[in-house]
Amino acid sequence: MVVSEFIPSTNLNLPNNGKIAWKSPSNIALVKYWGKKENQIPANPSISFTLDACATRTNLTFEKLSKPSQNFSFNLLFEGEPKPDFKPKIETFFRRIEPYLPFLKDYHFTIETTNSFPHSSGIASSASGMAALSLCLLDIERSSKSQMTVDFFNKKASFLARLGSGSACRSISGSLIQWGKNDHIQNSSDLFGVKYPYKMAPVFENYHDTILLVHKGQKTVSSTVGHGLMKGHPFAEKRFEQAHQNLNKLQTIFAEGNLDEFIEIVESEALTLHAMMMTSIPYFLLMKPETLAIIEKIWNFRKKTGLHACFTLDAGANVHLLYPEAEKTETIQFVKDELVVHCENGHYICDRVGNGSKKLISL
Ligand code: PMV
Repeated sequence: MVVSEFIPSTNLNLPNNGKIAWKSPSNIALVKYWGKKENQIPANPSISFTLDACATRTNLTFEKLSKPSQNFSFNLLFEGEPKPDFKPKIETFFRRIEPYLPFLKDYHFTIETTNSFPHSSGIASSASGMAALSLCLLDIERSSKSQMTVDFFNKKASFLARLGSGSACRSISGSLIQWGKNDHIQNSSDLFGVKYPYKMAPVFENYHDTILLVHKGQKTVSSTVGHGLMKGHPFAEKRFEQAHQNLNKLQTIFAEGNLDEFIEIVESEALTLHAMMMTSIPYFLLMKPETLAIIEKIWNFRKKTGLHACFTLDAGANVHLLYPEAEKTETIQFVKDELVVHCENGHYICDRVGNGSKKLISL
């Protein structure tokens, strides 16, 4: 598909007002997106498990203005309170998606958003938040076009979400989503996420992700800045190549359910992501001493028990502990016995692979 296919015709017959709500989950990348080109086009492809418990719920109320406004007209309530610091990000998002939803200035919107995960848990809500908002806005366009297929709707929602936050494009559907062009993955695209189209062994269908909340504060360096530092990075080209190779290797691993090989790729991807941060100029560190302590304990646990718990990291200090359903009893016991002590206030979140966004209120 090409970008122009997401531009609707100008004679949309849209409602005067209405209310829509969507719930979108977060996701955790196995092969990481780090580095981008213009318009949030990824420098390398990525793949993620869609999560289930960590999600954003967004209610969108809209009302037609008597005449189109000069600027975007909206109120934003986060957990029931006005949140002026989020407004610039939404304004930028509206500006980027306006060519594809040309009716945005015709309405006043009230955006009410809540997260299922605790406020300032260190879990970014941009992926789930931008996915939920994109779905709500696109539903307004869909209301005028009964012939919009589910496939097109999901692609366009992912395309719009990408323009809010790159990884958000992987939060529309479940359970394994690939984003970014890769020669060996049919229909893969830089423009939106697609469901992984090949065989996935049953062991991956209900994988667990226990998120160990090491540090709940603000990150010292945002992902936007981190992505930017991949421009001119001395290892960038090799890293981008490696992401393609890891995706190719995962195809066989997903089909065969080879957990040892899965672990090797997933942990290497997490450490490579942080190695890119440590070798950027300026260099920076997002891991904390507790992050490393947890990683070492996971390695020891695996060696001692022969089980398959492994870690991944996003752009922060928290550790995502991934493990198969069949090993959940021993692994959760390990979390309680050995890892909780490294979590801020002993907090962790039990999540698992999920099925994607859900509509809560229809137009
Ligand atoms: O979507 P962004 O711009 O917040 O970047 C996310 C980058 C990582 O979480 C580190 C990796 C990924 O693929 O999700």
